[in-house]
Amino acid sequence: MDYPIWDVALGGGMLMALVAIPHVIVAHFAIGGGLLIAVTETLAVRRSDFELRELARRSSLVLILVSTVFGAISGVGIWVVAGLISPAAISALIHTYVWGWAMEWVFFILEIVAALVYYATWGRISKQAHLLVGWLYVVGAYLSLVVINGIITFMLTPGEWLASRAFWDGFFNPTYWPSLVLRTGIALLMATAFMIFVALRAGVERREALLRYLGWWLVAGCVVAYAGYRWWEAVLPGTVRNLFRGAEPALAQLAATRSFALWSLTAALLLGLVVLVLAPRLARPATAAVLALAAFAFFGGYERLREGVRKPFLIHSHLFSNGLLLSAIPELNESGVAAHSGWVARGGEDGASLGRALFRAQCASCHTLDGYQSIRRALPSRADLAALAAAEGPEAAERAFRAECAACHAEVGAQEMQGMLPSAEEMGQDPEMMAELNRGMIAATLLELRDMGEAFTAAPHGAMVDTAPLFAPYMPPFVGTDRELEALADHLASLDRGAEPTPARQGGL
Ligand code: HEC
Ligand code: HEC
Repeated sequence: MDYPIWDVALGGGMLMALVAIPHVIVAHFAIGGGLLIAVTETLAVRRSDFELRELARRSSLVLILVSTVFGAISGVGIWVVAGLISPAAISALIHTYVWGWAMEWVFFILEIVAALVYYATWGRISKQAHLLVGWLYVVGAYLSLVVINGIITFMLTPGEWLASRAFWDGFFNPTYWPSLVLRTGIALLMATAFMIFVALRAGVERREALLRYLGWWLVAGCVVAYAGYRWWEAVLPGTVRNLFRGAEPALAQLAATRSFALWSLTAALLLGLVVLVLAPRLARPATAAVLALAAFAFFGGYERLREGVRKPFLIHSHLFSNGLLLSAIPELNESGVAAHSGWVARGGEDGASLGRALFRAQCASCHTLDGYQSIRRALPSRADLAALAAAEGPEAAERAFRAECAACHAEVGAQEMQGMLPSAEEMGQDPEMMAELNRGMIAATLLELRDMGEAFTAAPHGAMVDTAPLFAPYMPPFVGTDRELEALADHLASLDRGAEPTPARQGGL
């Protein structure tokens, strides 16, 4: 909360996703590709197989270009974007893991240098020396995964670290090993999906053999990824797993994401078995593209699931994604956010600008005004109330209620709620009263959000907090004094455009 806010119209999370998704795909591709190419070249040299060696050589150009140029630049992009949208969070991650990052960069340099040498020395140095460079690349690339996997998994399951604050407790946390297996499988998938395109261009007489060879790699990648995934799910703390598993998952959307990911993996496996292993002559660039899409879909689904179940935390049970430290909640409620954040204090003394500054500090990391996860849509409005009051018949009432009210009023039915409201006519005659009711709901929501802070503070120290029973399991608590709460309520209420209807609320994590 001590940093200025970078207001991206698109939403910080969305921008981050745009940079991070291509980066992680490429990063896994670079790891799996290195391994696949090194093994392929080794086999080729042993068997004096020209076509096989060509497959390795031609794949290596793309590997080098993609992993050094695109991978490195987008990697820097992640740091720039993350540093701008959540400076407090990045600062916390760096402070906890400074030596982790240092190791990561050492391996990354080894990876890049080996990649460049590998590509530049085809046919110029002895085959054995060239193989050695290839394997050095594999070691560098894989070790960079070994390190970063520790940091990524730590964010979701910090484990013993929450109590001990010891580096290695956080590093080798409960999901470390399953996730390493899973990512190894994903790396193989990414690499084979790409190398199929290269193999399709090989001479006719060897094409089928090369495709079948890649087919087995793909099958191996799917099996390893699946095993890693199931293991990952099994070691997740029950409170996290219940968010997307079981008869009534707390976040139904994430349950859907899980099935999407697993079905995509199944599709990749079946396609790989049929089109590559059993009948490679059927393989076409189009089938390869579908296969690559299925592999990406699995990977993307898993990453979304992992990010989704971590909400509202950046580091589970320690740091919220808006930069709020769990341990700071009581103090901030006591003395106020403005007292601790120069930026909020500079927001001004009058209620409206204080409210705006508080919104930027506490909510804007997830909510945009009108774009992704629009706050205007999430909040109730006078038009929403009027729409329910005016709805004719139980079905229309149900629809209006589902769309605009159910998220916060799950305990009542649509018609019951309609009965509690003044009629549409009365609403039209008394806009003041409606504005009052609407602002009252917003203030009451903030109160609920602030009470949530007590649940976080009261949770057993050193263990992961169970967010499922909370008022809003995917949101950090609101922190601040009563005056700050009122100021934020005023600001949020002022976003209501009155009679103009707001578009329906949108789900999205
Ligand atoms: C960690 C990200 C995050 C932060 C920070 C955050 N929210 Fe949310 N908020 C969400 C998500 C996710 C939803 C559910 C999305 C949806 O249903 O559209 C949501 C929904 C809401 C809703 C609709 C009610 C509901 O429970 O679905 C309101 C109102 C709201 N947020 C207000 C706020 C306010 C006010 C703040 C700042 C004090 C805030 N949020 C901070 C993620 C966040
Ligand atoms: C962002 C959350 C949120 C949304 C969305 C929301 N409300 Fe509310 N509303 C509240 C809270 C919190 C209260 C006060 C606590 C309570 O009584 O549940 C409240 C109170 C009310 C009350 C006052 C009666 C009472 O129970 O005390 C009415 C009537 C009401 N809401 C109607 C609606 C209608 C109709 C909609 C949909 C158009 C709606 N609300 C949407 C949060 C919300």
